[in-house]
Amino acid sequence: MSNKELENKIAESKLGGGKKRIDAQHNKGKLTARERLEILLDTNSFEEIGGLVTHRSTNFGLDKTKFLGDGVVTGYGTVNGRLIYVYSQDFTVLGGSLAEAHAEKICKIMELAMKNGVPIIGLNDSGGARIQEGVVSLGGYADIFYNNTKASGLVPQLSAIMGPCAGGAVYSPALTDFILMTKNTSYMFVTGPNVVKTVTNEEVSAEELGGADTHMIKSGVTHFACENELETIKNLKKLISYIPQNCEEIPENLHYEFKDEKRLKLNSVVPKNPNQPYEIREVINQLSDPDSFFEVHKEFAENIVVGFSRLAGRSIGVVANQPSVMAGVLDVDASVKGARFVRFCDAFNIPLLVLEDVPGFLPGTDQEWNGIISNGAKLLYAFCEATVPRITVITRKAYGGAYDVMNSKHIGADMNFAWPTAEIAVMGAKGAAEIIFKKEISSAKDPVKKLKEKQEEYATMFANPYNAASRGYVDEVILPSDTREKLIKAFKISENKKVSPIKKKHGNIPL
Ligand code: HXC
Repeated sequence: MSNKELENKIAESKLGGGKKRIDAQHNKGKLTARERLEILLDTNSFEEIGGLVTHRSTNFGLDKTKFLGDGVVTGYGTVNGRLIYVYSQDFTVLGGSLAEAHAEKICKIMELAMKNGVPIIGLNDSGGARIQEGVVSLGGYADIFYNNTKASGLVPQLSAIMGPCAGGAVYSPALTDFILMTKNTSYMFVTGPNVVKTVTNEEVSAEELGGADTHMIKSGVTHFACENELETIKNLKKLISYIPQNCEEIPENLHYEFKDEKRLKLNSVVPKNPNQPYEIREVINQLSDPDSFFEVHKEFAENIVVGFSRLAGRSIGVVANQPSVMAGVLDVDASVKGARFVRFCDAFNIPLLVLEDVPGFLPGTDQEWNGIISNGAKLLYAFCEATVPRITVITRKAYGGAYDVMNSKHIGADMNFAWPTAEIAVMGAKGAAEIIFKKEISSAKDPVKKLKEKQEEYATMFANPYNAASRGYVDEVILPSDTREKLIKAFKISENKKVSPIKKKHGNIPL
């Protein structure tokens, strides 16, 4: 082949399914596979791998048209200077459908990413298994799932859903660390609206069944629901900035000039009335470097807030009870959300900051029947297992089992601070007094007065941090305004933390 012929072939490979299909893609408000890569990667950094690969099947007319690249653009490039392996499915070629060669290309870059310790980003936009190719398409998916699982915990894997992602195809993103979806143009479901109608007689649109909002608010399948594709790509880039290349590296530390690190506003953030809510994001923002808090799973299980942040330039993971939603109680969804985030941070050497204001686990039949026991245990297990530096600040309530679960000293936290407003007890003073002084209260002349008296007695004993501090369960009671300084120092001294793993095959997290 002459140089000219090669140049023509390369140009052809960049055309995807042709102008008509590209226009159709744009008309739906979507970018093409290559346009997405151009926005994601640093200018001229993309190196394509397998651009001349074609499908091998000749069934159902596939012998007549061959598209170079087989519906997926694969290769590597840099995002803000960081090396990334990437695949981008091309909906203009046979609907981005996945078959033998398409899957082989994805597996090849996954294997390279694993060997070289580099993150993988997948941009998904596909009609699913290529119907004409039959079982090889299913086999191709399984090969990808197998690689996703091998790569899990080894290199970060991020999935952006930019179009359809249906049937078994959903399980590759589900096996990765983070999913980002674009509102109105992407959807994920195991069975689409037509099958749903046939099987359950429910009428539901694709957007309602598996759009970005559904998976952000209802199912928690997606970690980000973005307004449009540009926002999705922007969030991918931001996400990658907090995480390291692989499990043996630490995230990049940004340069930070120390200034006055006192945050006086924190002294008045917790209301005087212990039952009054406040916004935990205010605390997170005060403690973090300016504009550095990047929230994950924002609209799912809002009673817990998780996300990445920076503290004096260092990337950290934040897990915080949210007193302004259901008083920050732990329920099934909040436990699973927290556990998943803790495990990601632990796998990739991102230290953890826990802000605790939790009245306990949510009571009730709904929670019990939906397995608050095993789901709550996931969060407990995730914290117990985590070996990254982990620090807790108790801002207010630390009650019952939730005190233990939320990164207590007893389960391996490195430093535990409490604000003077902390209340650390088996339960709230009123409930406690009603149980342990039941007889005394009911036989009193004025039971209401007696209850109040006993409640105060219990509160004086436990609704403070000093009892826990006297036992060393809390390392220091600190002024809220000093918290940022204390955290910067505490994370600094923990940066060389080493924990020898216990020799076993793997633990058995209560899934
Ligand atoms: C082959 C496909 C295809 C597929 C789409 N196309 N999906 N070709 N295999 N799975 C082709 C179409 O024939 C069409 O080709 C082009 O892609 C664009 O498709 P349209 O239907 O015109 O686009 P649109 O109206 O936007 O609809 C998109 C769609 C629809 C909703 C994704 O195409 C669709 O329902 N496709 C089938 C989805 C599906 O059932 N997939 C299998 C899921 S099961 P032309 O030449 O006309 O442009 C599965 C199992 C995986 O994936 C199991 C793993 C374990």
